Order: sequence, then C-alpha cells, then structure tokens
Amino acid sequence: MLHKPTDSRCRVLFTIFTLYANLLTRVRTQEILKGFKASPDSSISLFQSLLHDASGNYSFGFLRVNATRLVLAVIHVPSEEPLWVGNPNNPAKWSNPTNLIFNGSLVLSDKSGVIWSTYTNGGRVILSNTSNLQVQNMDADGSVSILWQSFSFPYDTLVDNQNYTTNMSLVSSNGLYSLKLGNNFFGLYANFKEGLEQIYYKHTALEAKASIIDGQGPVYLRVSPDGFLGMYQASSDPTPVDIETFKSYGVPVPGIHRIRIEPDGNLQGYYWNGTVWISDYQAISDQCELPSACGPYGLCIPGSGCACLNNNTQFTPSGCSEPGSGDFCRNDGVENKFSVIRQNGVELLYKELMGYVKMNSLEACETSCDKNCTCWGVVYNNASGFCYSIDYPIQTMVSNREETKYGYFKVSKSTNGSGKKVESGLEIGLVLLGATLLAIFGFSGYQIWRRKRRVKTLVEDENGVNPGPYKNLGSASFRSIEMT
Ligand SMILES: *[C@@H]1O[C@H](CO)[C@@H](O)[C@H](O)[C@H]1NC(C)=O
Ligand SMILES: *[C@@H]1O[C@H](CO)[C@@H](O)[C@H](O)[C@H]1NC(C)=O
Ligand SMILES: *[C@@H]1O[C@H](CO)[C@@H](O)[C@H](O)[C@H]1NC(C)=O
Ligand SMILES: *[C@@H]1O[C@H](CO)[C@@H](O)[C@H](O)[C@H]1NC(C)=O
Ligand SMILES: *[C@@H]1O[C@H](CO)[C@@H](O)[C@H](O)[C@H]1NC(C)=O
Ligand SMILES: *[C@@H]1O[C@H](CO)[C@@H](O)[C@H](O)[C@H]1NC(C)=O
Ligand SMILES: *[C@@H]1O[C@H](CO)[C@@H](O)[C@H](O)[C@H]1NC(C)=O
Repeated sequence: MLHKPTDSRCRVLFTIFTLYANLLTRVRTQEILKGFKASPDSSISLFQSLLHDASGNYSFGFLRVNATRLVLAVIHVPSEEPLWVGNPNNPAKWSNPTNLIFNGSLVLSDKSGVIWSTYTNGGRVILSNTSNLQVQNMDADGSVSILWQSFSFPYDTLVDNQNYTTNMSLVSSNGLYSLKLGNNFFGLYANFKEGLEQIYYKHTALEAKASIIDGQGPVYLRVSPDGFLGMYQASSDPTPVDIETFKSYGVPVPGIHRIRIEPDGNLQGYYWNGTVWISDYQAISDQCELPSACGPYGLCIPGSGCACLNNNTQFTPSGCSEPGSGDFCRNDGVENKFSVIRQNGVELLYKELMGYVKMNSLEACETSCDKNCTCWGVVYNNASGFCYSIDYPIQTMVSNREETKYGYFKVSKSTNGSGKKVESGLEIGLVLLGATLLAIFGFSGYQIWRRKRRVKTLVEDENGVNPGPYKNLGSASFRSIEMT
C-alpha cells in the first residue's frame, strides 16, 4: 500500500514515481529480438502481453485458458477477443518452467519439451497493425522478408484483409466444425465422427463480376474492410468472383471486421464499433438449420425450440443424449447392441447435401440401416421414396409435421450416459471380485459369483431393451454444442 505522503519533498518524489510508472505502462514492446525469454506471471488472470502492434490495438502474449493452461494468442486489446491462437490443442501449463523464447524461432516449451515453434531462423518478431504476427528477416539491402506469419495459420477467426486459402483450416474452438474451400464454393463441415466430414452449408460463387477460370489456380476468401466476404481467384483479384455482403456493407465502421466459425457451427461476422463487437453476418440465420441446434438426438421445432427425438425424454438445457462415437461395427458385443427410436414428421437438415438411395418402402429403408453397422439411422420420404442414410452419431432433426417423412435412429448402448458406464465399472469390479473369490474359495466361490453375475446380466438386459431415458448428460463436450 502507498501511504499518502505528508511532507512536500516526499510529495515530489511520489509524483515522479507516478509519472515514471505511467510511462512504463505506456511503453509497449514493438519487436522481439534474439535472446528474448518470457515466463507466465502467476498473478495475471487473463492475458500477459509480450508484444504490441504500433497502434496498440493488438497484442501478442500468453492467454490463460481453463484456469491453469496457457496458449499463445493475438488479442484485440479493447475487447480482449482472441483473433489468433497458436497452440489451441496443446496448451502449456501456466506455471514454471513454461517459457517462450526467440532464438530465430519463437519456441514455446514446458518441462516436457517444445510445445510449439515457428521453426524459422529470423531476426525479429513483430505484430503488424492488422494483427498479423510475423517472424521477419532484414535483408542486406534493407528489405524485409517474412519467414512465418500467423495469417497463414488461422485459428477460428479471419480479420480484414487476411487471405484464406485452400491449404488452411478454420476450425471452431470445440473442434467440431470447419470452413473449407472447394473449387467454386466455400462449405461448412461437421466432424461428428472421426474421419468423416459432413458438409452442412455450401455457398457457391455467383461469378457476377468475374468468372472462375479452370487452370488458373484455386479460389481464396478475404474479408474486406468494405463489409463483405469476397471470393477471389489469383487471376481475378481484385475483382471478386463472389461477394457475401454483411449488414455493414458499404457503411464505414470505426473498427475492423472479423468472421469466426462458432462452436455452434455457424459462420458469423462482426465489426468493432469502438465499444463492442456488432454481429453483422450469419451464414445460417435459422436456429433449426444449425448442424446440431438441439444436440444429439434432439428435435428442433421451428418457432418453438427444442425437444427430443425420443418422446419419453424431456429436453433439458443439457440436451437429450450424450453423443455416441465410432459406429456399431465393433465386435466386443456391447458396442454392437443398439435400441431404436422411430419418429415421424422429421426432416434431415441439409439433406440436399447428403446422398440417398431410392427405396420402395419404409421397411426396405430401415432394413438397409439395421443391417449396416456404419449406419446410425435413416430418414425415409414416403412421397419420393428417398432413403437418406446417416453415417455418424445422430444429431438434431427438424420437425416438419409432414406425415410422409419417417425417421429411424439407432441408439448405442454405450451412449446411455454415465449411469451405464458406472454399471460397467461395477461389472468389472464384480469380475475382479469373482476372480479373487475363485482363487480363495475355489469352486463354491465361483458359484456365488456366477449367481451374482446372472442377476447383474438380467438387470442389464432390462436396461438394454428400454430405449430411454437418456438423462445423464453433463459432459463438457456436449455442453459446448448446446444451443445458446
Ligand atoms: C485502433 O482502433 C480504433 C477503433 O477501435 C481505430 O479508430 C483506430 O484507427 C485503430 N488504430 C489503428 C492504427 O488501426
Ligand atoms: C532454438 O531453440 C530451440 C529449442 O531449444 C532449438 O530446438 C532450435 O534449434 C533453436 N533454433 C536456433 C535457430 O537456434
Ligand atoms: C498500418 O501500417 C501500414 C504500414 O505498414 C501503414 O501504411 C498504415 O497506414 C497503417 N495503418 C494504420 C491504421 O495505422
Ligand atoms: C492477399 O492476397 C492478395 C492477392 O494475392 C495480396 O495482394 C495480398 O497482399 C494478400 N494479403 C496478405 C495479408 O497476405
Ligand atoms: C412419438 O410420437 C409420435 C406421434 O405422437 C409417434 O408417431 C412416434 O411413434 C412416437 N415415437 C416414439 C419413439 O415413441
Ligand atoms: C453401409 O453404409 C455405407 C455408408 O452409407 C455404405 O457405403 C456401404 O456400402 C453400406 N454397406 C452395405 C453392405 O450396404
Ligand atoms: C405412404 O403413404 C401412403 C399414401 O400417403 C400411405 O398409404 C402409406 O401407408 C404410407 N406408407 C407408410 C409406410 O406409412
């Protein structure tokens, strides 16, 4: 604590000290040179700045995540919004001996070794006034070459003038959704099952002012300070082959624009109005059209919110069921078992982006799924005869009350929630206990165990036949895809 100075000499000293302290906080590091080393400061609760851009609007440093972890980030200073994160999937510990050095490479290490590095041999690190972190070399003739830049490795956000090319990937913070470029479109993809990417939104270039020319290289995206997301081909730049306008299109705004792929799978645009971020673009405007608006096994009812595919389950803020994983092809006997939910009047989202097979009857459609262990469910249209197969854990369906649409959904026994898991744990416990008893008491012990086990199996079958309720839902991975 500083005590109020009483004599005048002391007051002068105090004033000098205050001025000096103010000056210190105003001096911002604008370049990092070889020999730099920084460690996380335990007293900082959110962001430890290591480098600023010339305007002071952006800062690069340590961002605290999950209370005890550390990621490298570039933030927008007034809002503390992370625009770039270097090591989202591999955070370090916010404690010693974690450190960041610059020896030509920016290198983040902790006690297990190198966590993240630019793998360069540069002279300095700067943060541009567009938020681009760069490792640069000053060449002999005074020109600057860029050896590495954060704009080439985007996280979930693109800012004004940042080029997004086919070899980059923009992924939502929960890792479920990504933005990708095709030859004449950009698409949003869901990763509901490892190794399987399902497109759920596709925006094809209009080519109104310039055409995409075959053989002239891939297209890329760029957010324009004029308020649109432009698609270009190198030969067409600066005339875009497509523009997706924001609400702020053509309106000068005080700050930057950014787009971000959100944890709910939407692609959202914002601009900074000097005080807060204003949302001015959404790829998907209808909540029910989000890839998993009500979570796994949810039913989105346009205009009235969420319910569950299973009539016997009440929708709660934590959803209807835990997401399943993998498929039904494992041969361990437990994973293969499933129960079935049937629901009519349901519609698959983005079904125009999914494959289908024409079938003569609902039964034929269901049977094709029942027999195929990679199939999680089907939606059959009785009017058209189209049978859509869902090859990943069931997400949200949209209710459309059309009696010609039928849904058939498998529920994996292993998705019944943690109650089930506890039971399996208990079962293992019983087996271990059984083995011990067997060793100690011999055959009579075995008999006792067998009796216990039979009781156990009966209880389990009863649960297995009964498809609901799926109420055991606290998992973090699920919460992150809840509708907000
Ligand atoms: C910093 O941001 C403010 C708006 O938030 C803007 O007015 C100013 O021009 C920015 N400075 C630079 C150098 O970009
Ligand atoms: C910088 O340090 C890292 C980690 O200690 C090391 O692997 C790398 O070779 C060094 N790079 C240079 C250019 O010295
Ligand atoms: C950003 O820096 C460039 C030069 O690197 C300069 O031309 C431009 O005016 C700067 N922009 C702002 C907003 O300060
Ligand atoms: C984006 O691409 C255009 C066209 O190739 C180029 O002129 C521009 O400098 C690039 N912007 C950045 C930030 O690299
Ligand atoms: C739920 O209710 C609908 C109509 O009310 C019915 O057609 C459907 O079979 C029921 N589904 C289940 C799983 O009970
Ligand atoms: C099972 O479903 C997958 C995906 O729909 C399909 O590729 C495969 O051919 C099906 N297998 C059989 C035996 O029908
Ligand atoms: C399909 O629709 C027809 C005519 O609307 C109806 O008669 C038939 O029962 C429906 N099929 C099924 C499986 O419900």
